[in-house]
Amino acid sequence: MKKRKSKRIGLKPLIIILTLFFMSSQAFALSDEDCMECHGDQDLTTEVEGKTINLYVDYEIFKDTIHSENGCVSCHEEADVEEGEDHPMPMSSVSCGNCHEEVSDTYTKSLHGVARMEAGDLLAPKCYDCHSKHAILPPSDKRSATYPLNVPTTCGKCHREGSQMNKLHNIEEHNIVANYTMSTHGKGLYVDGLIVTAVCSSCHTPHNIQVPDDPNSTVNRDHINETCSQCHVGIAEKFKKSVHSPLITKTDKKLPVCIDCHTSHTISRVDRKDFRQVISNQCSNCHEHESETYFETYHGRAGLLKGGEKAAKCSDCHGSHDILPSSSPNSKIHEENIVATCAPCHPNATPNFTEYLTHATHNDKEKYPELFYAFWAMTGLLVGTFSFFGLHTLLWIPRSMIERLKKIKGKH
Ligand code: HEC
Ligand code: HEC
Ligand code: HEC
Ligand code: HEC
Ligand code: HEC
Ligand code: HEC
Ligand code: HEC
Ligand code: HEC
Ligand code: HEC
Ligand code: HEC
Ligand code: HEC
Repeated sequence: MKKRKSKRIGLKPLIIILTLFFMSSQAFALSDEDCMECHGDQDLTTEVEGKTINLYVDYEIFKDTIHSENGCVSCHEEADVEEGEDHPMPMSSVSCGNCHEEVSDTYTKSLHGVARMEAGDLLAPKCYDCHSKHAILPPSDKRSATYPLNVPTTCGKCHREGSQMNKLHNIEEHNIVANYTMSTHGKGLYVDGLIVTAVCSSCHTPHNIQVPDDPNSTVNRDHINETCSQCHVGIAEKFKKSVHSPLITKTDKKLPVCIDCHTSHTISRVDRKDFRQVISNQCSNCHEHESETYFETYHGRAGLLKGGEKAAKCSDCHGSHDILPSSSPNSKIHEENIVATCAPCHPNATPNFTEYLTHATHNDKEKYPELFYAFWAMTGLLVGTFSFFGLHTLLWIPRSMIERLKKIKGKH
């Protein structure tokens, strides 16, 4: 779970800062101005392993950032040499963890951290790939790469289709960034400017990103309900009381979680015309039997025709986050409530009308014996009748042909 307010910065950095503050008032240490005398030169470059690296730093940008007070040497400790001396080359890389211990510990154990720090995958992000080197601003600042509006672009640098990372890594799901942008959350963000909507890091966390199969991942099946519920609090409360909640139903079967019905990156508004149809297919994935019988009834068949979106879909009768078995008095299909469930579409519905069996099928002897036997009795009668008259007709054909031939011959 993310903790926005946790800015615990260890004692060590405090000492460093105080020491630096103390030292900066001494004449012999290099000040930011000293660094800029050389690093303010746009043409200052160096060669590292055959690659030319630009060493220019834009001080106008840096002096506005969260670390401007700390100064250059708070991060580049080895550059803290005496005046007149050259700083060493090369220097070890900056360790943000010196001051951001907690974040750094989390990151080191994350998928990105392990890939970069342990497996040496240069395509996996270090702190500065998401935060920048010299333009670091708090996530609440509109100009920050970690401001909600900018997060999909920051992750998208690597996770969009066609990026070098995406080409070289075999990540199963495709078009994640484009799909997210078209989803209800993406539209909320970009069209409505809603920064409280879900961005990549709201579901994945910024620093504890793991593969979905990892039991510690916030997007793992076991945690996804909590993750969505950070924002959709009311729905989670309802859902906990439904037959699909593990708190209510103890079963070895797979109980649905938010993304089984809504997906992850292609979540749509629920008032979209096609949503109820799509969701019925999701219910059918787990309730095969009921969905087969549903498609044999009026609503199921009408639903397949043009304009069929008006016909009742699973969720119209069963509800969504409050689904309960018909035996439960709070169920929408309990006999006390069923008239009200049909009424929005059948205003004249009466208890009699609701006796229409929604899942009724002649194939289910256990549940609907009347239908089963009636079906087979009718079918038997039909088959019997057709067989008798069929045979009768068949036997008649040669006879009637002979009669016709006789008549034709007689005429000649
Ligand atoms: C006299 C000029 C000069 C000053 C002053 C100076 N630098 Fe440099 N800096 C350089 C040069 C030149 C290089 C490239 C050296 C090379 O190619 O071997 C460099 C390289 C660097 C690098 C890259 C290190 C690496 O391993 O790639 C960093 C970081 C850096 N300087 C930070 C600083 C900081 C911070 C200060 C102030 C405390 C500072 N420099 C002051 C000239 C200077
Ligand atoms: C918040 C930490 C931080 C501060 C403060 C900071 N830097 Fe850096 N700097 C970095 C990081 C991270 C890198 C990337 C290389 C690395 O990890 O060592 C970097 C790289 C550099 C480089 C190498 C060129 C490059 O872009 O990779 C130079 C030169 C440099 N910094 C100079 C400065 C100067 C001059 C200042 C002060 C005006 C400064 N830095 C302040 C974090 C910082
Ligand atoms: C994959 C991108 C990514 C990487 C890598 C990353 N961050 Fe972040 N970081 C973010 C995002 C996005 C936020 C804003 C999160 C939010 O508001 O929920 C953030 C927030 C922060 C914050 C402020 C909020 C907090 O949690 O305290 C700090 C400090 C921070 N990061 C430091 C670091 C450090 C240090 C590293 C490296 C050890 C690092 N980050 C690596 C994306 C990243
Ligand atoms: C010398 C100590 C030090 C180092 C090294 C350092 N920081 Fe910071 N950082 C700070 C301090 C102090 C703050 C201000 C904390 C505050 O305002 O709560 C800060 C604030 C931040 C914030 C904004 C946090 C917020 O809650 O708004 C981010 C993001 C951040 N640092 C990222 C980094 C990254 C990334 C690096 C490495 C490139 C880094 N820091 C290196 C001391 C440091
Ligand atoms: C600098 C490039 C880069 C950035 C920026 C980046 N990632 Fe990644 N990401 C990677 C790489 C590389 C991997 C694959 C690591 C591995 O499997 O070894 C990865 C893996 C992942 C995975 C697991 C994929 C899987 O295989 O199941 C998720 C989830 C993820 N990243 C989310 C994010 C989010 C969210 C952000 C933004 C906050 C982000 N990433 C930013 C490079 C990046
Ligand atoms: C509303 C929550 C949510 C948001 C927002 C979100 N994700 Fe995901 N993401 C998930 C879930 C849940 C999964 C697990 C996959 C699944 O089962 O559908 C996932 C899986 C992934 C994976 C791994 C895919 C794989 O095949 O292993 C990557 C990479 C990823 N997301 C990146 C991103 C990026 C980048 C963004 C922002 C553009 C983002 N996600 C936004 C919930 C979200
Ligand atoms: C069994 C399938 C299913 C599951 C699981 C599910 N939903 Fe829904 N959800 C639906 C249906 C169906 C609707 C449309 C309800 C309607 O039209 O009245 C819906 C509607 C919504 C809405 C729109 C508001 C509303 O109530 O109409 C949100 C937000 C939502 N769901 C979030 C969630 C979250 C968060 C979770 C996980 C805690 C979740 N859903 C789990 C089926 C499901
Ligand atoms: C950071 C907060 C946040 C998180 C986390 C989040 N959502 Fe949302 N969600 C929102 C907001 C805000 C909206 C309204 C956005 C809009 O419609 O423009 C929304 C809209 C929706 C809608 C459409 C509602 C409608 O009225 O049609 C659904 C469905 C939904 N979210 C499901 C999910 C699911 C499933 C997850 C987890 C995988 C999730 N959300 C995670 C904030 C969040
Ligand atoms: C991921 C699989 C899954 C999905 C998707 C799913 N369900 Fe279920 N559902 C279950 C499980 C497991 C039970 C627990 C009872 C059982 O063992 O069959 C259950 C129970 C029920 C019950 C009560 C059944 C009884 O006999 O007590 C109803 C009604 C129901 N679901 C309707 C729906 C509807 C409507 C949808 C779609 C909006 C849906 N389900 C989506 C797995 C699922
Ligand atoms: C017109 C309303 C209606 C529609 C549409 C509908 N059902 Fe039902 N469903 C019922 C009623 C009423 C019952 C209880 C009587 C029965 O078993 O026929 C029931 C029973 C069930 C049961 C057994 C639960 C129990 O408590 O006995 C499941 C599971 C179920 N339906 C799933 C589905 C699925 C999945 C769909 C969509 C493919 C669907 N239903 C569509 C009305 C409906
Ligand atoms: C979301 C709307 C909706 C709900 C809820 C709904 N139906 Fe229907 N139903 C329809 C539509 C649309 C038709 C097709 C009507 C037509 O063609 O005149 C239909 C047709 C029928 C028919 C056959 C035609 C007729 O009017 O006699 C029966 C029987 C029926 N529904 C029973 C039920 C029962 C029982 C319930 C409640 C358990 C129910 N329906 C709930 C939309 C709904």
